[in-house]
Amino acid sequence: MTGSPYPTGVAVLGATGSIGASTLDVIARHPEQYRVSALSANRDVDGMAALCRRFRPALVTMADPQAAAALRDRLDDLTGIRVSDGPAGQIEAATHSDADTVVAGIVGAAGLAPCLAAVETGKRVLIANKEALVVAGSLIMAAAQTSGAMLLPIDSEHNGIFQCLPDRPGQAIALTGVERLILTASGGPFRDRDPATLAAVTVEEACAHPNWSMGRKISVDSATMMNKGLELIEACRFFGMPAEQVDIVVHPQSLIHALVQYRDGTTLAQMGNPDMRTPIANALAWPERIDAGVNRLDLVRAGRLDFAAPDDQRFPCLGLARAALDAGSGATAALNGANEVAVAEFLDGGLRYDRIAAVIEDTLAALPAAPDETLEALIAHEQWARRQAADSLRRWRHR
Ligand SMILES: NC(=O)c1ccc[n+]([C@@H]2O[C@H](COP(=O)([O-])OP(=O)(O)OC[C@H]3O[C@@H](n4cnc5c(N)ncnc54)[C@H](OP(=O)(O)O)[C@@H]3O)[C@@H](O)[C@H]2O)c1
Repeated sequence: MTGSPYPTGVAVLGATGSIGASTLDVIARHPEQYRVSALSANRDVDGMAALCRRFRPALVTMADPQAAAALRDRLDDLTGIRVSDGPAGQIEAATHSDADTVVAGIVGAAGLAPCLAAVETGKRVLIANKEALVVAGSLIMAAAQTSGAMLLPIDSEHNGIFQCLPDRPGQAIALTGVERLILTASGGPFRDRDPATLAAVTVEEACAHPNWSMGRKISVDSATMMNKGLELIEACRFFGMPAEQVDIVVHPQSLIHALVQYRDGTTLAQMGNPDMRTPIANALAWPERIDAGVNRLDLVRAGRLDFAAPDDQRFPCLGLARAALDAGSGATAALNGANEVAVAEFLDGGLRYDRIAAVIEDTLAALPAAPDETLEALIAHEQWARRQAADSLRRWRHR
């Protein structure tokens, strides 16, 4: 640590995104406890320039070198902020010596290498970047064992499970009397929509989540329920739980985020308003509790809580994620790569919403032999899936 009056330096990866904004909101409420050491993003120069003026990190990094150059110009009048770029810059932010805590808030597999680097350096790592766990969860968990890094989930469901578990992180879940983990799903904007109309879904409709305000990629994943599929994989990897002991329950109000069932018949649920500042504050301060600026849950006002089984027919991505989880790391890496390609094309206007699943299905059908469990091999495998999905797009895209 430096001689700063503030005890905990935090590096926020993906600082200009939705998780970044929620994290920085919580940090700003507690200047006596947290200070920003490093910030990272891709190419949002305006957003990053504003954050730099407000939080004065020692290091700021943009994945896109042109954006980094533009940011350097914009911060010309400020001293003490170094601007770096490229993949190495993201690693630099993730391993910055002034940061004890790293928030992994980059979207997609682009966040994997920085997340793993933070874990290998032994940081306290708050993981929102579920794609990193989907592509290389076993590597991340093994690296934490070796380095002693503390991993804390901030995906709301996984943070909910974490809060309902009895013991400290690191203890084998099988030894704690836990029988099942249950993730809730809102069902997204198309939970009740006539399946015959799904071909006409617009980007705006898919991004309009009924309960959560999030980035565009995760919003589309929530609409297809691939998000819940990715979270199922994330839960198995993070908590070391077999797939058959993790359930998904549709709960449209998003007030219960997760439940843990114990062998004595107890079920513990974690509840709260759908606001990411709660899981972020929980993980930042754990084992303490800090104010997150979140409205308190009012059950009388909420009135009712509904539950239903997920509909795998309406949401084929859920079945694809389950199949990939059964097939192993190579398949989950490929699932992620194909999904990122298909969702990006949908957001770009080139693919119908109801064909996202078809692109992923094509890719998984062509899966080559499983890769080795190394970072290089898993990334190469994910890249193969991206090329395969791009091929499949030629069949499905409509322009
Ligand atoms: N939002 C939520 O409520 C929520 C909840 C649970 C989990 N998560 C997970 O958290 C992650 C972030 O989600 P989000 O909703 O915050 O996404 P978002 O709003 O789209 O923000 C993404 C962030 O990642 C940065 N980024 C994108 N590509 C990058 C690259 N190649 N290298 C470095 N940085 C890059 C973006 O920078 P630019 O702005 O410069 O493009 C931005 O700062 C995802 O994995 C998501 O599944 C999100």
